[in-house]
Amino acid sequence: MKKPKVFVTRILPEEGLNRVLDACDAEVWREDAPPPPNVLMEKVRGVDGLLSLLTDRIDGQLLDAAGPTLKVVSNFAVGYDNIDVPAATERGILVGNTPGVLTETTADLAFALLMAAARRLPEGADFVRAGLWTTFQPMLMLGRDIHGASLGIVGMGQIGRAMAKRAAGFDMKILYYDPFAPADVPLPAGAIRCTVLDELLGRADFVSLHVPLGPQTHHLIGRRALGAMKPTAILVNASRGPVVDPDALYEALQEGRIAGAALDVTEPEPLPADHRLLTLKNCLVVPHIGSATHATRTRMAVMAAENLIAGLTGKVPPHPVNPEVLPRRR
Ligand code: DGY
Repeated sequence: MKKPKVFVTRILPEEGLNRVLDACDAEVWREDAPPPPNVLMEKVRGVDGLLSLLTDRIDGQLLDAAGPTLKVVSNFAVGYDNIDVPAATERGILVGNTPGVLTETTADLAFALLMAAARRLPEGADFVRAGLWTTFQPMLMLGRDIHGASLGIVGMGQIGRAMAKRAAGFDMKILYYDPFAPADVPLPAGAIRCTVLDELLGRADFVSLHVPLGPQTHHLIGRRALGAMKPTAILVNASRGPVVDPDALYEALQEGRIAGAALDVTEPEPLPADHRLLTLKNCLVVPHIGSATHATRTRMAVMAAENLIAGLTGKVPPHPVNPEVLPRRR
């Protein structure tokens, strides 16, 4: 039987990629950089399935370029703001994502960012490497306590909850803001729900962002929100870069209106090496590695492969983003 034709936009961990290679007639983009948009447009022509990354923009034009054979777009990420899901749904194309498997790993990284910024770890490491460590100094690199401090979690989905669990282990007070969280969301004892974002921002020593990117969350943390934070507060972002306005963040950090920021995600992404945020000692940036462990990336690849293959073989994918397409899929 003829295998379905698919395009995979990057090399993935073997366990997932091999499933795709076994089940499909697959072309894999083997460069480190994503396929340029015009190349992607060419590569998808006539495919039955597409395994995409968050760096690939999948819009109506691309879906039309693929043509009527395209049945499924499987994203190697839990976030799918790179995909125009309504455009896919309109065309009867299934979209899949990889929720759950990266929750704990991403929360680990967000908490690591919080700790690294609070205790000035990157600065300390640079200091030692530069040969500046001459003696114990009572006033050297004083940071902020994590235990007993308050953590404001913006977005109480799976990753927000995993962050709360970690914070409870450090005896942190937990505040959270999420207008969509159910009233009975399971949280450590004492967690306080804020009905207004500014209430959380004004009370938290650390603010950690765990919201999806969409029109309501684009630049959610801009000049006004940063102005509502404590001057001693540290902002952590392991969600999506454009949730934070980078110009407003630069000004707030530079003028000492907040104490620090630790970012796994930025706008733009990648952040150019000469970006002014990188000139600030109180801004730590890492390259979107929230889910980057061997085990988690493997689980994501397997799940992305399962979504793809199920979508191509008329089965119900484990994680469809638009299940309403199922009864009328192509
Ligand atoms: C996601 O899955 O959305 C992350 O940003 C990358 O793992």
